[in-house]
Amino acid sequence: MLENDIERILVSEPEIKAICQRLGEEVTHDYRNKKPLIIGLLKGCLPFMGELIKHIDLYCEIDLMGVTSYHGGVASTGDVKITKDLDASVLNRDVLIAEDIVDTAKTIDVIRKLLLYRGAKSVEVITLLDKPSGRIVPFEPKYIGVTIPKEFVVGFGLDYDEYYRNLPYVGVLKPSVYKK
Ligand code: IMP
Ligand code: MG
Repeated sequence: MLENDIERILVSEPEIKAICQRLGEEVTHDYRNKKPLIIGLLKGCLPFMGELIKHIDLYCEIDLMGVTSYHGGVASTGDVKITKDLDASVLNRDVLIAEDIVDTAKTIDVIRKLLLYRGAKSVEVITLLDKPSGRIVPFEPKYIGVTIPKEFVVGFGLDYDEYYRNLPYVGVLKPSVYKK
């Protein structure tokens, strides 16, 4: 049913698994002797964070923050709204923010600055997808799963109007779906 709306698969299920394994090993190496706080940005982070943390062999904590910037369309409004705040304090913590995708980087810019303002010792970003062609704010995530072209994608956490997050892969949505 959902797959009828997909033009083509961009990152397959086995590719995502391999990416998460590679990223998890890098994080495990880089944060050895530390106890990072991994903060997922809801809701898109969920499948990625779930797969990623299986490959992180550290005493890490996880927390979640609800953030939205789309309000229904296919372009970020840049109006970043926090819909759920953290449970944990970030004071003196090594924070790793887990994102589904960095596009304009407006979301990550706002959240990074907020967490630093709240006293985090370090704030790095790990993202499944990077769309550098979309940048408005200059920013390069420390950990990138895969760099993708300037296309609107859905699946593995990424939505269009809250749908398609449950697809097990990342695919390009048929433009006819959002031009209806
Ligand atoms: P940014 O603030 O433009 O970097 O956007 C980050 C957020 O926009 C991501 O967490 C996604 O929720 C959403 N986003 C950006 N590009 C896409 C896309 O191609 N498909 C679905 N959501 C996207
Ligand atoms: Mg998101």
